[in-house]
Amino acid sequence: MSKKGVFIVIEGLDGSGKTTQATLLANNLSKTREVFCTAEPSRGKIGTFIRQGCLYEEKRLPTEAEALLFAADRIEHMKNELAPALSQGKIVICDRYIYSSLAYQGSAGLSLAWIKTINARALQPDFSIFIDVSPEQVLKRLQRKKSVMETLEIQQKVREIYLKFVEEGELILIDGDKQRDVVAEALFAKVLSLLKNINY
Ligand SMILES: Nc1ncnc2c1ncn2[C@@H]1O[C@H](COP(=O)(O)OP(=O)(O)OP(=O)(O)O)[C@@H](O)[C@H]1O
Ligand SMILES: [Mg+2]
Repeated sequence: MSKKGVFIVIEGLDGSGKTTQATLLANNLSKTREVFCTAEPSRGKIGTFIRQGCLYEEKRLPTEAEALLFAADRIEHMKNELAPALSQGKIVICDRYIYSSLAYQGSAGLSLAWIKTINARALQPDFSIFIDVSPEQVLKRLQRKKSVMETLEIQQKVREIYLKFVEEGELILIDGDKQRDVVAEALFAKVLSLLKNINY
């Protein structure tokens, strides 16, 4: 694949404002650039199965199977949506990607090395951004039925893994505890400076 665009990933806990911020970032960037906004699990065959078939307690699969399904969805998503948009020179904003697998299936006990291995064929993002909100705050924000990944203890473990990648310089932290528009401004400013660095 000849990649001409820029691949940006937005990560964070459930309810941290990823979808809100991905949408606002897409609106801000689309004034001057072509943007393609997408999310995982994808809307493809495997992503649809994940959304309908394994995120809730009564339908839970073994964690390894779950990790493999997310990795398989990622490949399908990459081939059908991410790669074509990038080859057209678009800025691709993806709500959740490999760090979600590392943080969630990692917090469920799988080795980070194995999760990285099964995702080794997936395209690497140019930048991955972690919207950091405290687990207490996200649980307050979530009104709808909570999936199995949304209890306080799990959120704390998930956040710890995300923060480890922030410390290692793989994820860029944005403070997500602030008001929606304040977070959006900080995110937009950060992305503009990152794009400048790569001359896009
Ligand atoms: N900065 C903010 N302050 C307060 N509430 C917010 C903020 N950002 C988003 N919200 C609200 O929090 C809820 C969750 O936001 P959103 O759906 O964007 O999160 P998410 O990370 O995409 O969640 P999920 O992982 O479940 O898809 C929504 O009701 C949204 O309106
Ligand atoms: Mg969302």
